[in-house]
Amino acid sequence: MSPTAGKNVDIRPATGKLGILLPGMGAVATTFIAGVEAIRRGISKPIGSLTQKGTIRLGKRTDARTPLIKEFVPLARLEDIVFGGWDLFPDDAYEAAKEAGVLSKEHLDELKDFLSTIRPMTSVFDQGYVKKLTATHAKKGRSKRDLAEQVIDDIKAFKKEKGCDRLVMVWCGSTEVYRSPSAVHASLAAFERGLEESDAEIAPSQIYAYAALKCGIPYANGAPNLTLDTPALLELARKNGVPVTGKDFKTGQTLMKTILAPGFKARLLGVAGWYSTNILGNRDGEVLDDPESFKSKEVSKLGVLEHILQPHLYPELYGNMHHVVRINYYPPRGDNKEGWDNIDIFGWMGYPMQIKIDFLCRDSILAAPIVLDLALFMDLAQRCGMSGIQEWLSFYWKSPMTAEGLYPEHDLFIQLMKLKNTLRYLRGEDLITHLGAEYYD
Ligand SMILES: NC(=O)c1ccc[n+]([C@@H]2O[C@H](COP(=O)([O-])OP(=O)(O)OC[C@H]3O[C@@H](n4cnc5c(N)ncnc54)[C@H](O)[C@@H]3O)[C@@H](O)[C@H]2O)c1
Repeated sequence: MSPTAGKNVDIRPATGKLGILLPGMGAVATTFIAGVEAIRRGISKPIGSLTQKGTIRLGKRTDARTPLIKEFVPLARLEDIVFGGWDLFPDDAYEAAKEAGVLSKEHLDELKDFLSTIRPMTSVFDQGYVKKLTATHAKKGRSKRDLAEQVIDDIKAFKKEKGCDRLVMVWCGSTEVYRSPSAVHASLAAFERGLEESDAEIAPSQIYAYAALKCGIPYANGAPNLTLDTPALLELARKNGVPVTGKDFKTGQTLMKTILAPGFKARLLGVAGWYSTNILGNRDGEVLDDPESFKSKEVSKLGVLEHILQPHLYPELYGNMHHVVRINYYPPRGDNKEGWDNIDIFGWMGYPMQIKIDFLCRDSILAAPIVLDLALFMDLAQRCGMSGIQEWLSFYWKSPMTAEGLYPEHDLFIQLMKLKNTLRYLRGEDLITHLGAEYYD
Protein backbone atom coordinates (compact mmCIF):
# COMPACT_ATOMS: atom_id res chain seq x y z
CA MET A 1 0.00 0.00 0.00
CA SER A 2 1.23 3.52 -0.77
CA PRO A 3 2.50 5.39 2.33
CA THR A 4 0.05 8.18 1.54
CA ALA A 5 -3.01 6.00 0.95
CA GLY A 6 -6.27 7.03 2.56
CA LYS A 7 -8.42 4.92 4.78
CA ASN A 8 -11.61 4.24 2.80
CA VAL A 9 -13.98 4.98 5.63
CA ASP A 10 -17.37 3.37 5.89
CA ILE A 11 -19.73 6.22 4.98
CA ARG A 12 -23.41 6.01 5.82
CA PRO A 13 -25.36 6.83 2.62
CA ALA A 14 -27.17 10.17 2.29
CA THR A 15 -30.67 8.75 2.10
CA GLY A 16 -33.81 10.74 2.84
CA LYS A 17 -34.11 14.44 3.57
CA LEU A 18 -31.49 16.73 5.07
CA GLY A 19 -32.92 19.60 7.13
CA ILE A 20 -30.74 22.73 7.28
CA LEU A 21 -31.56 24.77 10.37
CA LEU A 22 -30.54 28.41 10.34
CA PRO A 23 -30.59 30.51 13.52
CA GLY A 24 -30.80 33.98 11.92
CA MET A 25 -32.76 34.32 8.70
CA GLY A 26 -31.45 37.60 7.31
CA ALA A 27 -29.44 38.47 4.20
CA VAL A 28 -27.08 35.48 4.10
CA ALA A 29 -29.65 32.83 5.04
CA THR A 30 -32.35 34.00 2.63
CA THR A 31 -29.86 34.44 -0.23
CA PHE A 32 -28.69 30.89 0.42
CA ILE A 33 -32.22 29.45 0.50
CA ALA A 34 -33.33 31.37 -2.60
CA GLY A 35 -30.21 30.26 -4.48
CA VAL A 36 -30.70 26.58 -3.69
CA GLU A 37 -34.31 26.75 -4.84
CA ALA A 38 -33.34 28.67 -8.00
CA ILE A 39 -30.75 25.98 -8.81
CA ARG A 40 -33.30 23.23 -8.18
CA ARG A 41 -35.67 24.98 -10.61
CA GLY A 42 -32.93 25.25 -13.22
CA ILE A 43 -32.95 29.05 -13.29
CA SER A 44 -29.55 29.48 -11.63
CA LYS A 45 -26.14 27.80 -11.37
CA PRO A 46 -24.28 26.94 -8.13
CA ILE A 47 -21.41 29.36 -8.80
CA GLY A 48 -18.92 29.60 -5.95
CA SER A 49 -19.82 26.22 -4.45
CA LEU A 50 -17.06 23.63 -4.14
CA THR A 51 -19.50 20.83 -3.39
CA GLN A 52 -21.47 21.51 -6.56
CA LYS A 53 -18.89 22.67 -9.09
CA GLY A 54 -15.54 21.58 -7.66
CA THR A 55 -13.49 18.67 -9.01
CA ILE A 56 -10.82 16.57 -7.35
CA ARG A 57 -7.74 15.07 -8.99
CA LEU A 58 -7.09 11.43 -8.07
CA GLY A 59 -3.96 9.38 -8.55
CA LYS A 60 -1.16 10.48 -10.88
CA ARG A 61 -1.58 13.33 -13.34
CA THR A 62 -1.31 10.77 -16.14
CA ASP A 63 -4.30 8.83 -14.74
CA ALA A 64 -6.70 11.53 -15.95
CA ARG A 65 -9.16 10.92 -13.10
CA THR A 66 -10.81 14.16 -12.03
CA PRO A 67 -14.39 13.54 -10.89
CA LEU A 68 -16.73 16.15 -9.49
CA ILE A 69 -16.48 16.25 -5.69
CA LYS A 70 -20.20 15.53 -5.38
CA GLU A 71 -19.70 12.35 -7.41
CA PHE A 72 -16.59 11.34 -5.48
CA VAL A 73 -18.10 11.53 -1.97
CA PRO A 74 -21.76 10.82 -1.15
CA LEU A 75 -23.27 14.25 -0.44
CA ALA A 76 -26.93 15.05 0.13
CA ARG A 77 -28.63 16.13 -3.11
CA LEU A 78 -30.04 19.65 -3.37
CA GLU A 79 -33.44 18.09 -4.09
CA ASP A 80 -33.36 16.46 -0.64
CA ILE A 81 -32.75 19.67 1.34
CA VAL A 82 -35.44 21.32 3.47
CA PHE A 83 -34.98 24.58 5.34
CA GLY A 84 -35.92 25.86 8.76
CA GLY A 85 -34.72 28.48 11.21
CA TRP A 86 -35.31 31.11 13.82
CA ASP A 87 -35.27 34.89 13.73
CA LEU A 88 -35.90 37.92 15.93
CA PHE A 89 -38.55 39.05 13.46
CA PRO A 90 -41.53 37.04 12.19
CA ASP A 91 -41.03 37.86 8.47
CA ASP A 92 -41.08 34.86 6.16
CA ALA A 93 -38.06 34.21 3.93
CA TYR A 94 -39.61 36.18 1.05
CA GLU A 95 -40.21 39.29 3.22
CA ALA A 96 -36.79 38.96 4.86
CA ALA A 97 -35.04 38.60 1.50
CA LYS A 98 -36.90 41.66 0.18
CA GLU A 99 -35.82 43.63 3.24
CA ALA A 100 -32.20 42.43 2.86
CA GLY A 101 -32.12 43.84 -0.68
CA VAL A 102 -29.59 41.35 -2.05
CA LEU A 103 -31.62 39.70 -4.80
CA SER A 104 -33.44 41.40 -7.65
CA LYS A 105 -37.21 41.83 -7.71
CA GLU A 106 -37.33 39.45 -10.70
CA HIS A 107 -35.62 36.67 -8.78
CA LEU A 108 -37.73 37.26 -5.69
CA ASP A 109 -41.01 37.30 -7.64
CA GLU A 110 -40.09 34.05 -9.33
CA LEU A 111 -39.31 32.35 -6.01
CA LYS A 112 -42.01 33.99 -3.88
CA ASP A 113 -44.29 30.93 -3.75
CA PHE A 114 -41.47 28.92 -2.19
CA LEU A 115 -39.82 31.55 0.01
CA SER A 116 -43.04 32.71 1.60
CA THR A 117 -43.66 29.19 2.98
CA ILE A 118 -40.52 29.38 5.13
CA ARG A 119 -41.35 31.06 8.41
CA PRO A 120 -38.88 31.49 11.25
CA MET A 121 -39.53 29.94 14.63
CA THR A 122 -39.43 32.26 17.65
CA SER A 123 -35.89 33.12 18.62
CA VAL A 124 -33.80 33.05 21.76
CA PHE A 125 -32.71 36.64 22.25
CA ASP A 126 -30.82 38.74 24.74
CA GLN A 127 -30.44 42.44 24.02
CA GLY A 128 -27.17 42.45 25.91
CA TYR A 129 -25.59 40.43 23.08
CA VAL A 130 -26.88 42.38 20.05
CA LYS A 131 -27.34 45.98 21.14
CA LYS A 132 -28.65 47.37 17.86
CA LEU A 133 -31.63 45.04 17.34
CA THR A 134 -34.80 44.61 19.36
CA ALA A 135 -36.63 41.32 18.88
CA THR A 136 -40.36 41.18 18.23
CA HIS A 137 -40.38 37.38 17.83
CA ALA A 138 -38.63 35.88 20.86
CA LYS A 139 -39.27 33.06 23.29
CA LYS A 140 -40.09 33.59 26.93
CA GLY A 141 -38.70 31.19 29.46
CA ARG A 142 -38.21 30.71 33.18
CA SER A 143 -34.49 30.15 32.69
CA LYS A 144 -31.91 29.65 29.98
CA ARG A 145 -32.37 25.91 30.49
CA ASP A 146 -36.05 26.36 29.70
CA LEU A 147 -35.11 28.27 26.52
CA ALA A 148 -32.69 25.52 25.47
CA GLU A 149 -35.44 22.94 25.99
CA GLN A 150 -37.80 25.00 23.83
CA VAL A 151 -35.21 25.02 21.04
CA ILE A 152 -34.83 21.24 21.38
CA ASP A 153 -38.63 20.92 21.09
CA ASP A 154 -38.54 23.12 17.94
CA ILE A 155 -35.87 20.88 16.43
CA LYS A 156 -37.81 17.70 17.16
CA ALA A 157 -41.05 19.14 15.80
CA PHE A 158 -39.32 20.39 12.63
CA LYS A 159 -37.69 17.03 12.01
CA LYS A 160 -40.97 15.22 12.40
CA GLU A 161 -43.05 17.65 10.36
CA LYS A 162 -40.58 17.68 7.42
CA GLY A 163 -39.79 13.98 7.64
CA CYS A 164 -36.02 14.60 7.85
CA ASP A 165 -33.51 11.82 8.07
CA ARG A 166 -30.73 14.16 9.32
CA LEU A 167 -30.26 17.77 10.39
CA VAL A 168 -27.39 20.29 10.42
CA MET A 169 -27.35 23.77 11.97
CA VAL A 170 -25.51 26.77 10.48
CA TRP A 171 -25.55 30.00 12.52
CA CYS A 172 -26.44 32.88 10.17
CA GLY A 173 -27.53 35.22 12.97
CA SER A 174 -26.01 38.55 13.93
CA THR A 175 -22.57 39.06 15.40
CA GLU A 176 -22.81 39.05 19.18
CA VAL A 177 -20.74 41.26 21.48
CA TYR A 178 -17.18 40.16 22.17
CA ARG A 179 -16.81 37.62 24.97
CA SER A 180 -14.00 35.38 26.16
CA PRO A 181 -14.68 32.10 27.96
CA SER A 182 -15.61 32.48 31.65
CA ALA A 183 -16.13 30.12 34.58
CA VAL A 184 -19.52 28.98 33.29
CA HIS A 185 -17.83 27.73 30.09
CA ALA A 186 -15.15 25.70 31.87
CA SER A 187 -16.99 22.37 31.74
CA LEU A 188 -20.28 20.90 30.59
CA ALA A 189 -21.41 20.55 34.20
CA ALA A 190 -20.70 24.25 34.89
CA PHE A 191 -22.50 25.21 31.68
CA GLU A 192 -25.58 23.18 32.55
CA ARG A 193 -25.64 24.74 36.01
CA GLY A 194 -25.32 28.13 34.30
CA LEU A 195 -28.33 27.36 32.10
CA GLU A 196 -30.33 26.59 35.21
CA GLU A 197 -29.22 29.84 36.87
CA SER A 198 -29.55 31.90 33.65
CA ASP A 199 -25.91 32.91 33.87
CA ALA A 200 -25.40 36.21 32.03
CA GLU A 201 -22.27 34.86 30.32
CA ILE A 202 -24.28 32.32 28.30
CA ALA A 203 -25.02 33.88 24.91
CA PRO A 204 -28.13 33.12 22.83
CA SER A 205 -25.92 31.49 20.16
CA GLN A 206 -24.66 29.10 22.84
CA ILE A 207 -28.20 28.09 23.69
CA TYR A 208 -28.85 27.10 20.05
CA ALA A 209 -25.48 25.31 19.87
CA TYR A 210 -26.16 23.45 23.10
CA ALA A 211 -29.59 22.37 21.81
CA ALA A 212 -28.06 21.18 18.51
CA LEU A 213 -25.28 19.20 20.16
CA LYS A 214 -27.70 17.67 22.66
CA CYS A 215 -29.73 16.42 19.69
CA GLY A 216 -26.58 15.13 17.93
CA ILE A 217 -26.78 17.80 15.20
CA PRO A 218 -23.57 19.20 13.63
CA TYR A 219 -23.15 22.95 14.23
CA ALA A 220 -21.29 25.50 12.07
CA ASN A 221 -20.73 29.02 13.38
CA GLY A 222 -20.97 31.63 10.60
CA ALA A 223 -20.29 34.61 12.86
CA PRO A 224 -17.23 35.50 14.94
CA ASN A 225 -19.20 34.72 18.11
CA LEU A 226 -17.48 32.78 20.90
CA THR A 227 -20.23 30.10 20.85
CA LEU A 228 -18.43 26.74 20.51
CA ASP A 229 -14.97 27.92 21.46
CA THR A 230 -15.43 26.83 25.03
CA PRO A 231 -14.40 23.69 26.91
CA ALA A 232 -18.06 23.14 27.85
CA LEU A 233 -19.52 22.91 24.36
CA LEU A 234 -16.52 21.05 22.94
CA GLU A 235 -16.96 18.53 25.73
CA LEU A 236 -20.58 18.07 24.71
CA ALA A 237 -19.61 17.69 21.02
CA ARG A 238 -17.08 15.00 21.93
CA LYS A 239 -19.43 13.26 24.32
CA ASN A 240 -22.21 13.05 21.73
CA GLY A 241 -19.86 12.39 18.78
CA VAL A 242 -20.94 15.50 16.84
CA PRO A 243 -18.80 17.47 14.35
CA VAL A 244 -18.47 21.24 14.88
CA THR A 245 -16.82 23.97 12.84
CA GLY A 246 -16.31 27.73 12.77
CA LYS A 247 -15.95 30.60 12.72
CA ASP A 248 -17.00 33.64 10.67
CA PHE A 249 -17.60 32.97 6.97
CA LYS A 250 -14.56 33.94 4.92
CA THR A 251 -15.99 36.23 2.25
CA GLY A 252 -14.93 39.68 0.87
CA GLN A 253 -11.86 41.37 2.22
CA THR A 254 -10.51 38.49 4.30
CA LEU A 255 -10.86 36.14 1.34
CA MET A 256 -8.66 38.55 -0.63
CA LYS A 257 -6.14 38.67 2.21
CA THR A 258 -5.81 34.91 2.39
CA ILE A 259 -5.31 34.80 -1.39
CA LEU A 260 -2.71 37.59 -1.55
CA ALA A 261 -0.70 37.22 1.65
CA PRO A 262 0.48 33.65 0.85
CA GLY A 263 1.78 35.03 -2.46
CA PHE A 264 3.79 37.79 -0.76
CA LYS A 265 5.23 35.30 1.67
CA ALA A 266 6.04 32.80 -1.07
CA ARG A 267 8.10 35.49 -2.86
CA LEU A 268 9.52 36.84 0.43
CA LEU A 269 8.23 40.34 -0.19
CA GLY A 270 8.01 42.44 2.96
CA VAL A 271 4.78 44.01 4.21
CA ALA A 272 5.07 47.28 6.12
CA GLY A 273 1.35 47.84 6.49
CA TRP A 274 -2.09 46.67 5.45
CA TYR A 275 -4.91 49.14 5.90
CA SER A 276 -8.42 47.79 5.25
CA THR A 277 -11.63 49.75 5.39
CA ASN A 278 -15.21 48.94 4.41
CA ILE A 279 -18.49 50.70 3.92
CA LEU A 280 -21.52 48.52 4.41
CA GLY A 281 -25.20 49.37 4.71
CA ASN A 282 -27.10 46.21 5.57
CA ARG A 283 -28.39 45.01 8.94
CA ASP A 284 -25.07 43.26 9.59
CA GLY A 285 -23.37 46.65 9.10
CA GLU A 286 -25.82 48.22 11.55
CA VAL A 287 -25.09 45.55 14.18
CA LEU A 288 -21.35 46.00 13.66
CA ASP A 289 -21.77 49.73 14.25
CA ASP A 290 -21.91 48.79 17.93
CA PRO A 291 -18.30 48.77 19.17
CA GLU A 292 -18.79 45.59 21.21
CA SER A 293 -20.06 43.57 18.22
CA PHE A 294 -17.35 45.15 16.05
CA LYS A 295 -14.75 43.93 18.52
CA SER A 296 -15.77 40.30 17.77
CA LYS A 297 -15.38 40.98 14.05
CA GLU A 298 -12.11 42.85 14.45
CA VAL A 299 -10.48 40.05 16.43
CA SER A 300 -11.63 37.56 13.81
CA LYS A 301 -10.27 39.68 10.92
CA LEU A 302 -6.97 40.68 12.48
CA GLY A 303 -5.60 37.20 13.18
CA VAL A 304 -5.39 36.28 9.50
CA LEU A 305 -2.20 38.11 8.43
CA GLU A 306 -0.27 37.31 11.57
CA HIS A 307 -0.78 33.59 11.03
CA ILE A 308 -0.07 33.57 7.30
CA LEU A 309 3.00 35.82 7.37
CA GLN A 310 4.57 34.32 10.52
CA PRO A 311 6.49 37.44 11.70
CA HIS A 312 8.30 35.33 14.32
CA LEU A 313 9.98 33.41 11.47
CA TYR A 314 10.46 36.45 9.20
CA PRO A 315 10.98 39.39 11.57
CA GLU A 316 12.63 41.61 8.94
CA LEU A 317 9.80 41.15 6.48
CA TYR A 318 6.72 41.14 8.71
CA GLY A 319 7.86 41.98 12.23
CA ASN A 320 6.87 45.62 12.00
CA MET A 321 3.64 45.41 10.08
CA HIS A 322 0.75 47.76 10.81
CA HIS A 323 -2.56 46.00 10.26
CA VAL A 324 -5.72 48.07 10.63
CA VAL A 325 -9.32 47.01 9.89
CA ARG A 326 -12.29 49.38 9.85
CA ILE A 327 -15.97 48.85 9.08
CA ASN A 328 -18.25 51.82 8.66
CA TYR A 329 -22.02 51.55 8.57
CA TYR A 330 -23.19 53.48 5.51
CA PRO A 331 -26.85 52.75 4.63
CA PRO A 332 -26.87 53.85 0.94
CA ARG A 333 -24.75 50.82 0.00
CA GLY A 334 -27.09 48.20 1.45
CA ASP A 335 -25.60 44.71 1.09
CA ASN A 336 -23.19 45.87 -1.65
CA LYS A 337 -20.16 46.47 0.45
CA GLU A 338 -17.14 48.35 -0.82
CA GLY A 339 -13.83 47.32 0.68
CA TRP A 340 -10.58 49.17 0.15
CA ASP A 341 -7.17 47.80 0.94
CA ASN A 342 -3.96 49.75 0.85
CA ILE A 343 -0.97 47.43 1.10
CA ASP A 344 2.52 48.82 1.62
CA ILE A 345 4.99 46.19 0.53
CA PHE A 346 8.77 46.32 0.04
CA GLY A 347 11.18 44.39 -2.13
CA TRP A 348 14.83 44.04 -3.13
CA MET A 349 17.06 46.44 -1.17
CA GLY A 350 14.02 47.55 0.78
CA TYR A 351 12.39 49.63 -1.99
CA PRO A 352 8.73 50.35 -1.15
CA MET A 353 5.73 49.63 -3.38
CA GLN A 354 1.98 49.96 -2.92
CA ILE A 355 -0.98 47.84 -3.94
CA LYS A 356 -4.55 49.21 -3.87
CA ILE A 357 -7.63 47.04 -3.99
CA ASP A 358 -11.14 48.34 -4.39
CA PHE A 359 -13.50 45.39 -4.05
CA LEU A 360 -17.10 46.21 -4.90
CA CYS A 361 -18.42 43.03 -3.45
CA ARG A 362 -21.75 41.49 -2.62
CA ASP A 363 -21.35 39.99 0.79
CA SER A 364 -24.26 37.60 0.86
CA ILE A 365 -23.60 36.42 -2.70
CA LEU A 366 -20.15 35.36 -1.50
CA ALA A 367 -21.46 33.83 1.73
CA ALA A 368 -24.40 31.78 0.35
CA PRO A 369 -22.37 29.01 -1.36
CA ILE A 370 -20.28 28.70 1.80
CA VAL A 371 -23.42 27.95 3.81
CA LEU A 372 -24.36 25.25 1.31
CA ASP A 373 -20.91 23.64 1.28
CA LEU A 374 -20.65 23.69 5.06
CA ALA A 375 -24.06 22.11 5.51
CA LEU A 376 -23.27 19.33 3.02
CA PHE A 377 -19.74 18.67 4.30
CA MET A 378 -20.82 18.68 7.95
CA ASP A 379 -23.54 16.18 7.11
CA LEU A 380 -20.91 14.08 5.32
CA ALA A 381 -18.56 14.34 8.32
CA GLN A 382 -21.26 13.03 10.59
CA ARG A 383 -22.08 10.13 8.29
CA CYS A 384 -18.35 9.29 8.31
CA GLY A 385 -18.35 9.17 12.13
CA MET A 386 -16.15 12.27 12.47
CA SER A 387 -16.66 14.42 15.57
CA GLY A 388 -15.25 17.47 17.34
CA ILE A 389 -13.56 20.35 15.50
CA GLN A 390 -13.40 19.81 11.74
CA GLU A 391 -10.15 21.57 10.81
CA TRP A 392 -10.36 20.36 7.22
CA LEU A 393 -13.16 22.93 6.79
CA SER A 394 -10.84 25.85 7.72
CA PHE A 395 -11.10 26.81 4.04
CA TYR A 396 -14.44 28.48 4.80
CA TRP A 397 -13.49 30.50 7.87
CA LYS A 398 -11.96 33.85 8.72
CA SER A 399 -11.01 32.49 12.09
CA PRO A 400 -10.77 28.69 11.89
CA MET A 401 -11.29 26.74 15.09
CA THR A 402 -8.40 24.47 16.05
CA ALA A 403 -7.65 21.96 18.76
CA GLU A 404 -6.11 23.55 21.82
CA GLY A 405 -2.47 24.49 21.41
CA LEU A 406 -2.54 24.49 17.59
CA TYR A 407 -2.43 27.62 15.46
CA PRO A 408 -5.07 27.99 12.74
CA GLU A 409 -4.16 27.55 9.08
CA HIS A 410 -5.27 30.64 7.12
CA ASP A 411 -3.57 30.19 3.74
CA LEU A 412 -6.43 29.49 1.31
CA PHE A 413 -4.33 27.15 -0.82
CA ILE A 414 -3.11 25.03 2.09
CA GLN A 415 -6.68 24.97 3.38
CA LEU A 416 -7.95 23.69 0.03
CA MET A 417 -5.26 21.02 -0.09
CA LYS A 418 -6.20 19.89 3.41
CA LEU A 419 -9.88 19.74 2.48
CA LYS A 420 -9.32 17.74 -0.68
CA ASN A 421 -6.81 15.40 0.97
CA THR A 422 -9.38 14.70 3.68
CA LEU A 423 -11.87 13.68 0.99
CA ARG A 424 -9.23 11.48 -0.69
CA TYR A 425 -8.46 9.89 2.68
CA LEU A 426 -12.13 9.13 3.31
CA ARG A 427 -12.37 7.32 -0.01
CA GLY A 428 -9.10 5.39 0.30
CA GLU A 429 -7.31 7.34 -2.46
CA ASP A 430 -3.65 8.39 -2.34
CA LEU A 431 -3.13 11.79 -0.75
CA ILE A 432 -1.58 14.28 -3.13
CA THR A 433 1.71 15.61 -1.80
CA HIS A 434 3.09 17.17 -5.03
CA LEU A 435 6.35 15.34 -4.41
CA GLY A 436 8.17 14.71 -7.68
CA ALA A 437 9.00 11.07 -6.85
CA GLU A 438 10.19 10.51 -10.45
CA TYR A 439 13.38 12.51 -9.67
CA TYR A 440 14.52 9.78 -7.31
CA ASP A 441 13.78 6.70 -9.41
N1 LIG B 1 -22.38 38.33 4.54
C1 LIG B 1 -21.15 37.94 4.71
O1 LIG B 1 -20.37 37.93 3.79
C2 LIG B 1 -20.70 37.48 6.04
C3 LIG B 1 -19.39 37.09 6.17
C4 LIG B 1 -18.96 36.63 7.40
C5 LIG B 1 -19.81 36.54 8.46
N2 LIG B 1 -21.09 36.97 8.30
C6 LIG B 1 -21.93 36.90 9.48
O2 LIG B 1 -23.09 36.19 9.17
C7 LIG B 1 -24.14 36.67 9.97
C8 LIG B 1 -25.34 36.98 9.11
O3 LIG B 1 -25.05 38.05 8.22
P1 LIG B 1 -26.23 38.75 7.45
O4 LIG B 1 -25.61 39.69 6.47
O5 LIG B 1 -27.22 37.76 6.99
O6 LIG B 1 -26.89 39.62 8.63
P2 LIG B 1 -28.42 40.04 8.80
O7 LIG B 1 -28.40 41.11 9.83
O8 LIG B 1 -29.05 40.32 7.48
O9 LIG B 1 -29.10 38.72 9.37
C9 LIG B 1 -28.89 38.27 10.66
C10 LIG B 1 -30.23 37.84 11.20
O10 LIG B 1 -30.02 37.23 12.45
C11 LIG B 1 -31.11 37.54 13.27
N3 LIG B 1 -30.72 37.27 14.65
C12 LIG B 1 -29.88 37.95 15.46
N4 LIG B 1 -29.77 37.36 16.68
C13 LIG B 1 -30.56 36.25 16.61
C14 LIG B 1 -30.88 35.23 17.53
N5 LIG B 1 -30.39 35.24 18.75
N6 LIG B 1 -31.72 34.24 17.13
C15 LIG B 1 -32.25 34.22 15.87
N7 LIG B 1 -32.00 35.18 14.97
C16 LIG B 1 -31.16 36.18 15.33
C17 LIG B 1 -31.43 38.98 12.96
O11 LIG B 1 -32.76 39.30 13.27
C18 LIG B 1 -31.18 39.00 11.44
O12 LIG B 1 -32.35 38.78 10.70
C19 LIG B 1 -23.59 37.90 10.74
O13 LIG B 1 -23.14 37.50 12.00
C20 LIG B 1 -22.40 38.27 9.90
O14 LIG B 1 -21.42 38.97 10.63
C21 LIG B 1 -21.56 37.42 7.12
